Amino acid sequence: MSKIESILTESRVFNASEQLKKRVALTESDIAQLYAKAGKDHVGFWSDLAREKLAWSKPFTIGLDDSNAPHFKWFSDGKLNASYNCIDRHLETKSDKLAIIFEADDGKVVRYTYKELHDQVCRFANTLVAQGIQKGDRVVIYMPMIPQAVIAMQACARIGAIHSVVFGGFSAESLRDRIDDTGAKLVITANAGRRGGKIIPLKKAVDDALEKGGDHVRKVIVFRRTNDDVAMKAGRDIDWYEAEAGMSNYHDPVMVDSEHPLFLLYTSGSTGKPKGVQHSTGGYLLNAHVTNEWMFDLSEQDVFWCTADVGWITGHTYVTYGPLSVGATILMFEGVPTYPDAGRFWQICQDHGVTIFYTAPTAIRALMKFGSELPSQYDLSKLRILGTVGEPINPEAWIWYYHEIGGGRCPIIDTWWQTETGAHMLAPFPVTPLKPGSCAKALPGIDAAIVNESGQALEANEGGLLVIKKPWPSMIRTVWGDDARYQKTYFPMMDTIKDGASCYVVGDSAYQDEDGYFWILGRVDDVLNVSGHRLGTMEIESALVSHPKVAEAAVVGRPDEIKGEAISAFVVLNVDIPTEDSEQASLVQELRTWVAKEIGAIAKPDDIRFGTNLPKTRSGKIMRRLLKTLARGEEIVQDTSTLEDPSVLEQFK
Ligand code: PRX
Repeated sequence: MSKIESILTESRVFNASEQLKKRVALTESDIAQLYAKAGKDHVGFWSDLAREKLAWSKPFTIGLDDSNAPHFKWFSDGKLNASYNCIDRHLETKSDKLAIIFEADDGKVVRYTYKELHDQVCRFANTLVAQGIQKGDRVVIYMPMIPQAVIAMQACARIGAIHSVVFGGFSAESLRDRIDDTGAKLVITANAGRRGGKIIPLKKAVDDALEKGGDHVRKVIVFRRTNDDVAMKAGRDIDWYEAEAGMSNYHDPVMVDSEHPLFLLYTSGSTGKPKGVQHSTGGYLLNAHVTNEWMFDLSEQDVFWCTADVGWITGHTYVTYGPLSVGATILMFEGVPTYPDAGRFWQICQDHGVTIFYTAPTAIRALMKFGSELPSQYDLSKLRILGTVGEPINPEAWIWYYHEIGGGRCPIIDTWWQTETGAHMLAPFPVTPLKPGSCAKALPGIDAAIVNESGQALEANEGGLLVIKKPWPSMIRTVWGDDARYQKTYFPMMDTIKDGASCYVVGDSAYQDEDGYFWILGRVDDVLNVSGHRLGTMEIESALVSHPKVAEAAVVGRPDEIKGEAISAFVVLNVDIPTEDSEQASLVQELRTWVAKEIGAIAKPDDIRFGTNLPKTRSGKIMRRLLKTLARGEEIVQDTSTLEDPSVLEQFK
């Protein structure tokens, strides 16, 4: 409730200036036409865009095949290649145009023109083929944020191999789960990465992951990012450059069916292991392309910097695929926002003339703490559009971003979407009147609504479930290897309401105000949003329970000023609870390190409390609401009479 109230007090509206309206490609009337067209003919709208925006080697005749709902196929008899669309089709007119500007952690800059990117991607595509990789094979990419990550992804797309990028911050265990689930034949990694002046080893995690799993992995290609030594396993591991030696700069892209999986990307759910979200080629690329044009007004003149790592969906759609498909220049940065100081982002924007900047609220809040002095030292006048993604942005951070970074001239595009949706779903266009904290409206061709659990539409300002009622091209196709989970998670109303098999249930609660603007309230399931990254409470609980001293664990989120949500863990030990403060502190440290090893540093609990039992009902259900109250440090006002043992609450306080 507190969240609902604090957001409701936000009533400011920011209108686009006349100057901005003149500058952007899409006017209000163009946008109205897009909505009108989509409203009249949903499939025709997307089909016309697919013909206009993408290059097809075989044109499609079928727009949407919905004969097997909730499995939808878009443009299914057409053929295309994603890498061709991102690179080759620009070569005739802009082979010398910059595709990638890369700034390394140490400040060194490397640039790639479209022609150079083409040659690199082709060489690496040929390398993959030479290593026995074919269309449909899975390739896991575990890389730092360097151009070779994009080259590897594009090369996979070029030969029709299905990539699965695993964020470099995930541990060997997490990496192993993902490698095993994909059945990958090949892993691409680097010996190490550089972040904030430190060397972060990566290859070691691949070795550890493959020691106990991944029998299907035949080769590991290792890019030497640093001069540090790296252990290479004979017969399995190959140096990137040695593997590439003698490979041609030309590779004929493999044309695939529109529905051919372009990639798998793992994301957390409330139960079970992370889900391998499967995306298609044609449908995915279409939304990636048009949302870059619509929301960011992206054109060939822009330098677009999306700060997301390629290990997340944002790094797929707004780094690797969308902006290149549009033919823009992307900026990639290897390091962290606070090294060598907290002005790094603004220095990069200045030095490379960044025009569009897209980041997460957590980064904005963190940098805001350093004050407005730092950004004011840099020339940010080239910026024209700012974006945010990952979690609701609090109005205070919005206003700071708007004035201190955007100089009051740049619209803030608050984009709501998910790994599963592939691209933006709710967001303003640059000329849309903006309300700080709201992600405005559903895009043309996206049929979003707020409903109750029986699927009935709710009134304005009533909080409920956010759903998307019609299929859209870039939607998830299935959960890799677990289609039942796909149906159950995303289409829970399949058997209960009319058209339930096409009603995608997002997992967020939200409401629409009287102007139709959407306000996201949070997750409805046990999924945490830590620094804009999704973590399942169950994953963290399983990691804790796998520690020899832990009998039971429950994890909840609590609001955190910078990270959005912090992780609070409640732990029951199978040894005595240490009585000394120092012993307790060292056990907390041990468990935090354990979780980092099991999942990755992002999943480390911020606080851990011990008790002799978890608060459970007599039927054995953990009362998470009570734990949330405890985590927030609030007084318990809920009814605790159904608890098996109310005294445990005192211990956890
Ligand atoms: O809860 C929503 C939140 O992030 C979730 C999706 O997480 P993930 O798949 O990791 O993708 C993050 C990047 C697209 C959503 O279910 N979320 C994402 N963007 C926003 C948001 N919440 C509020 N406002 C947003 N702009």
